Amino acid sequence: MTPEQIADLRRQKYNATVTRLIKVHSDLLILRVRPDKPLQPHKPGQYTALGLGYWEPRIPGSADEELSPADQMKLARRSYSISCPILDDQGRLLDYHATGWLEFYIVLVRESGKQMPPALTPRLFLLQEGDRLFMGEKITGHFTLDPVQPEDTVLFLATGTGEAPHNYMLWDLLRRGHPSRILSVCCVRYRKDLGYLAVHTELMRRYPHYTYLPLTTREAESKGHKVYIQDLITSGQLEERLGQALDPRHTHVFLCGNPKMIGVPEKDRVTGARIYPQPPGVIEILEKRGFQADLPSQKIKGNIHYEEYW
Ligand SMILES: Cc1cc2nc3c(=O)[nH]c(=O)nc-3n(C[C@H](O)[C@H](O)[C@H](O)COP(=O)(O)OP(=O)(O)OC[C@H]3O[C@@H](n4cnc5c(N)ncnc54)[C@H](O)[C@@H]3O)c2cc1C
Ligand SMILES: NC(=O)c1ccc[n+]([C@@H]2O[C@H](COP(=O)([O-])OP(=O)(O)OC[C@H]3O[C@@H](n4cnc5c(N)ncnc54)[C@H](OP(=O)(O)O)[C@@H]3O)[C@@H](O)[C@H]2O)c1
Repeated sequence: MTPEQIADLRRQKYNATVTRLIKVHSDLLILRVRPDKPLQPHKPGQYTALGLGYWEPRIPGSADEELSPADQMKLARRSYSISCPILDDQGRLLDYHATGWLEFYIVLVRESGKQMPPALTPRLFLLQEGDRLFMGEKITGHFTLDPVQPEDTVLFLATGTGEAPHNYMLWDLLRRGHPSRILSVCCVRYRKDLGYLAVHTELMRRYPHYTYLPLTTREAESKGHKVYIQDLITSGQLEERLGQALDPRHTHVFLCGNPKMIGVPEKDRVTGARIYPQPPGVIEILEKRGFQADLPSQKIKGNIHYEEYW
């Protein structure tokens, strides 16, 4: 493709600008994106799409893509939860809706495990501040704070970048003075993968009813005794950090990230019984303790809400 064709495609297909880009490390980034048009009203916890053309370069070392000339002119689009910095540069709760931009928290996928190599993140990781990209105008999703009442304890349990929507929901709870306990857990491979650790540490200092609990699974000290979020619950450590028993009547649990941590059950076609994936995810463990996961196909709204990233 000629530089003129590429410039033309960018003009036609892109509708937003990167206003800030923070590389937490080579494979993890925080990206702020300002759309050309005013943002659509939306709720914390929801997601939108980001996209870049298949004509854009990919990070060195990426596996080869086989694309037809027609495909090369298309956009690679993926869903991304909206995150939130929570505090502004002066350390106050951010007036997020006045900024005109949205924040995203994105990990570089080097191998997708699928036939096609990962399309979007190897391109997103070459972006620089001021660059143009596509952002979906539609912001959507069922993963919101709608069911949470002031008397409810809120648990946010995430793996990796799954903490993105939790950060936006946490900002909303703090902003509206949610009076009950809030606990946010994030399980990552290495300490360097905790892109929001500093802000959570500051929030814990300011809000005694808020706790951030990071778990790392591949640091030297985790060797031989890896603790997943499921282990935190079954061992009683989660309740210990919460300072209270898990009470399904007054607790909402939000799960986001790796589907294996979440463990959404299937329904047996003959008996209708729930079949949980093995080894157990959080849903099985909590349902055995009286919780109920949302089941959109059966129109069941419970107190476990989840967003699977793949
Ligand atoms: C509703 C929704 C919200 C999402 N929000 C985010 C987000 O906020 N941040 C984010 O980084 N990703 C998020 N994702 C995943 C995102 O849509 C892309 O799949 C991801 O960025 C990889 O895109 P790709 O084109 O590079 O690779 P693809 O070719 O799409 O590769 C997909 C594979 O990459 C792995 N993978 C995808 N996403 C992740 C992830 N976040 N962490 C670990 N492994 C992953 C899985 O093995 C998956 O099968 C979300 C997905 C959904 C459905
Ligand atoms: N994070 C990095 O440093 C890094 C570096 C290069 C590339 N990548 C790529 O980035 C992508 C995402 O990596 P990620 O680390 O953000 O996400 P991830 O692979 O989902 O891992 C996030 C956390 O979830 C844990 N986890 C894995 N299986 C689980 C289960 N069954 N139940 C509960 N928790 C579970 C992981 O522990 P485990 O340690 O047991 O997996 C890890 O602590 C991958 O494609 C990877 O190849 C990441």
